Amino acid sequence: MVSCPHRIPDVSRSAPVVPAALLTVALALTLTSCTEGGGEAEESRGSAGLRDPYFPQLGNGGYDVTHYALTLGYEPPSGTHAEARLRGTAVITARATRDLGSFNLDLKGMDVESVTVEGVAARRKRAGQELTVTPENGLGEGETFRTTVRYSGVPETITDSDGSREGWLPTADGVLALGEPTGSMTWFPGNHHPSDKATYDITVTVPEGLRAVSNGELKSESGEGGRTTYSWHVAEPMASYVATIAIGTYEIRRSTVGEGEGEGEGRGAGAGRLPVYVAVDPAQAEDSRAVLARIPEVIEWAEGNFGPYPFSSTGAIVDRPEDIAYALETQNRPVFPGAPDLSLLVHELAHQWYGDSVTPKSWRDMWLNEGFATYAEWLWEEDHGGDSAQEIFDALYEGDYFQDAASNEAVWDFPPAKPPSAARISDSPVYERGAMVLHKIREAVGDDAFFELIQSWATAHRHGNADTADFTAYVEKFAEKRAPDADLTPIWKEWLYGEGKPPEA
Ligand code: TRP
Ligand code: ZN
Repeated sequence: MVSCPHRIPDVSRSAPVVPAALLTVALALTLTSCTEGGGEAEESRGSAGLRDPYFPQLGNGGYDVTHYALTLGYEPPSGTHAEARLRGTAVITARATRDLGSFNLDLKGMDVESVTVEGVAARRKRAGQELTVTPENGLGEGETFRTTVRYSGVPETITDSDGSREGWLPTADGVLALGEPTGSMTWFPGNHHPSDKATYDITVTVPEGLRAVSNGELKSESGEGGRTTYSWHVAEPMASYVATIAIGTYEIRRSTVGEGEGEGEGRGAGAGRLPVYVAVDPAQAEDSRAVLARIPEVIEWAEGNFGPYPFSSTGAIVDRPEDIAYALETQNRPVFPGAPDLSLLVHELAHQWYGDSVTPKSWRDMWLNEGFATYAEWLWEEDHGGDSAQEIFDALYEGDYFQDAASNEAVWDFPPAKPPSAARISDSPVYERGAMVLHKIREAVGDDAFFELIQSWATAHRHGNADTADFTAYVEKFAEKRAPDADLTPIWKEWLYGEGKPPEA
């Protein structure tokens, strides 16, 4: 029935793929350089990674970021965006979670010009993607401190182990910054792991005639001396992998979700209006118009199923298909490679609840994002005269969902909760089989309890993080009260963690 891989690796413009063996060597070297030194300093050193099962170097231990203030200048040489320089100042407010003599930030590429902590110059050292900062004065556990990093350069584009491109992506008329799973460290220093969420202010100055679109709400737009500055404010916590900036020529369309000012109208009692900010590449404007006009309808439908929309604004960013090869659930306004079809729109907007608001604790928990967003597509179909979720489940189980046999087989390649490697965290088992796990839960607890469950899960972890064990424990506890006869153990054992195709129930 369907033949749409979720993420089409875009190798057409990528650098040669680095052999896995070389990557291993590079990783080993970086790790070695991070462990030199010793004695007391070792005790008070924030770790250079959070031991993510797939990306062990990502993120840093010893502190929690609460806010990023990024002030960015985009400086393209005339005529080309590929060589455009980025000049940045990142002010990172964080709280030390233990005594710190030094700590790390993730930053890949770029030249660091200065680092200060609480306004005092700090020593810095770079090794691979690690920027080690040693403040003049140590930081005490619980202390809130501000680090300011000034940096510049031409940001890098990253090629992931599955061949897709992320990070800094020059487009026909500007640039697009996308960060799943590791790309955000190419354009700002930070704690680049999904477990450390923070609020943001993102201010971007571009040459007059270009526009800068980001997450959150546009607070100001001002021009001076041939340049325009756009200031975006992200009021709700955001994981860095869903941060974005899109620079280029865009057509802007603003609207709202909800007719009324409150009570009883539009988005339900007290919800008020939700601003919609849509930015579309002019080349995609005509094809996108009808589908993007349905954003309010999709949001209202989603609120009915998943609970109140978790953020202060919504929308979309549409670039050209030749600019990027995949969609991404960037917070507030997902990015699309050309005009999306309705199910892709539903998928990315559903991620605002599942992924952006309830964010995985590690990259192993990806199915909590993709299984939910895929199941949202099924629910949309079911509610709009298409196949029911049961029919889609059955087609997948019988192996006649995708057009080709290999794709139908690939659904069973590995258990959704245990992708075999970083290269496979966006494969079919994470999406389709992840959605099948949710359908099995629905079958076990019944419709009423199921819809209550997926809403209360989103509420319980709103603006936070959760992992697979949190989810199964939550479902168990919920079922004790609402569906005491439900037998969940085989779902976890066979569907979530089991190798191969689960036996027919
Ligand atoms: N999260 C995206 C989606 O489903 C797909 C995607 C883009 C992705 N880049 C990725 C998934 C990197 C895993 C890793 O809409
Ligand atoms: Zn997705």
